[in-house]
Amino acid sequence: MASVSVLIPAAGRGARLGRGPKALVRVAGRTLLEWTLEAFVWADEVRVALPPGLPAPQPAANVSFIEGGAERQDSVARLLKGAGGDVVLVHDAARPFVARAVIERLLEAVTLYGAAVPVLPLPDTLIEPEEGRYGVALERSRYALVQTPQAFFREVLGEAHELARARGLTATDEAQLVRALGYPVELVKGDPRMFKVTYPEDLALAEALAQTWPGGGG
Ligand code: CTP
Ligand code: MG
Repeated sequence: MASVSVLIPAAGRGARLGRGPKALVRVAGRTLLEWTLEAFVWADEVRVALPPGLPAPQPAANVSFIEGGAERQDSVARLLKGAGGDVVLVHDAARPFVARAVIERLLEAVTLYGAAVPVLPLPDTLIEPEEGRYGVALERSRYALVQTPQAFFREVLGEAHELARARGLTATDEAQLVRALGYPVELVKGDPRMFKVTYPEDLALAEALAQTWPGGGG
């Protein structure tokens, strides 16, 4: 079995949520980071990037903390530098609910293809607004929403990050960089409960879900 490093970018400022560093915001009594870490107790190592100046939480058995960078991509690059696993899973601390079935799909797919990410179909009609008015409707079935965790052979992601640095590429997730390298990224079925806590309204949904989540806050 391949060894697995989990990289958790948690160094964001949480500007849209407006409650300070998002990883430390509490849902049902636990921080988003604590919810996330609980999902990865099985991993060989978990590396977390925190905002600069924040006191690192008590180190747990398989968890270590570093200072994040200016952008998410910088935080992941720093996390990757010290990672030792054959496979890396990159997961946003802002997604506190990690479904075990998705992890299993990812680990299976990454072993076969070297890169895999979870996606969801779009539930709503998708348009391109024109100056604030209803614009062209896009063909929804042609698009997908991308979640984390994203799984890669560590060497593939390392190469992708090197290419990004050399070419000055920036991206909102790792799969874009890996694809830019010319490497195919497999898609697996995601889970809507793995949504990203982004806006204040998302907290109510997270609180509700926490009540029933396996091993949850209750
Ligand atoms: N992140 C990070 N380092 C940064 C910016 C973001 O590690 N310099 C992390 C966040 O902590 C989060 C994930 O990337 O876990 C996804 O980012 P996002 O949801 O945008 O979180 P924030 O950047 O904190 O939120 P906002 O954009 O509203 O400020
Ligand atoms: Mg952000």
